[in-house]
Amino acid sequence: MPAHLTAPEPQAPAASHDTYVLGNDAVELDRLRLQHDLWRPLLQAALGRAALSPGERAIDLGAGPGFVALDLARIVGPTGQVLALEQNPAYVRHGQQLAQDADLGQLEMRCHDLLRDPVPAGPFDLVWCRWLAMFLPEVEPLLDPLPLCLARGGRVLFHEYVHWDTFGLHPHGHAMARFSRAVQRSFRQAGGDPDISRRLPSLLAARGFEIEELLPLPVLGRAGEWPARWLEMFVTLYGSRLQALGLWSPEEAETARLEMAASRADPGSFWVGPTILEVRARRT
Ligand SMILES: C[S@@+](CC[C@H](N)C(=O)[O-])C[C@H]1O[C@@H](n2cnc3c(N)ncnc32)[C@H](O)[C@@H]1O
Repeated sequence: MPAHLTAPEPQAPAASHDTYVLGNDAVELDRLRLQHDLWRPLLQAALGRAALSPGERAIDLGAGPGFVALDLARIVGPTGQVLALEQNPAYVRHGQQLAQDADLGQLEMRCHDLLRDPVPAGPFDLVWCRWLAMFLPEVEPLLDPLPLCLARGGRVLFHEYVHWDTFGLHPHGHAMARFSRAVQRSFRQAGGDPDISRRLPSLLAARGFEIEELLPLPVLGRAGEWPARWLEMFVTLYGSRLQALGLWSPEEAETARLEMAASRADPGSFWVGPTILEVRARRT
């Protein structure tokens, strides 16, 4: 197991108005790192399709611990600029350290609540947003300022889920199907929408954006492969949270554990993750 997946020390919680249901401790930071590593090729392909180029200015909304912001900063180079906005101070500090260690002076990581604080004026050439809109109780404060902070011709690029129901373990995953429903219920109870991408293109079109790309991005992995490790980690970590919320039971967790063990012993077994929709739109 890589060093960054060993049990880390818990860190200070974020501000009390935090609506991020998955939590803010160091274990979640490591889960996000693994998740980022897994989805990185799809991120890089998306940035290629969006033609992010040296010298451009990009803004990362809900940047987490700064993993994507680092990639953005490397692409725009020293003549460009990346502003990464994140509400969790511990994640902001983590991103600042990454930027310092990599000597990327073009990357600024800033503590910012996207539901309350005014979005910086820019103008930016690219707005990047992944796995944020799905957690917000209202998306208008996120979307309304976009035309104002983008340069004319600038683009927004979202990677949010469109079909959480594709999550599953096959052919063993009966408890896993119930887990998926419980996860989605927890997101909705916290005010989010796990399938927010179903609404995003229409909401962007209503704000004057030209929709350039709608691309579903599935992820699938056999036992032992990256997606399986990521999804097993999610079931184990978030399963405890679901139990605390009363949405999942110790018996269900044990059945899920047995299903995952059966899957590891079956070379034909495979996981499918929730499907992302890439949404790219341009300010006309
Ligand atoms: C699932 S993580 C995704 C992180 C990053 N976008 C990525 O792709 O790896 C969601 C992040 O959104 C942040 N977040 C949630 N609500 C926010 C808000 N109102 N303002 C700023 N950040 C927020 C959370 O703190 C968390 O770091």
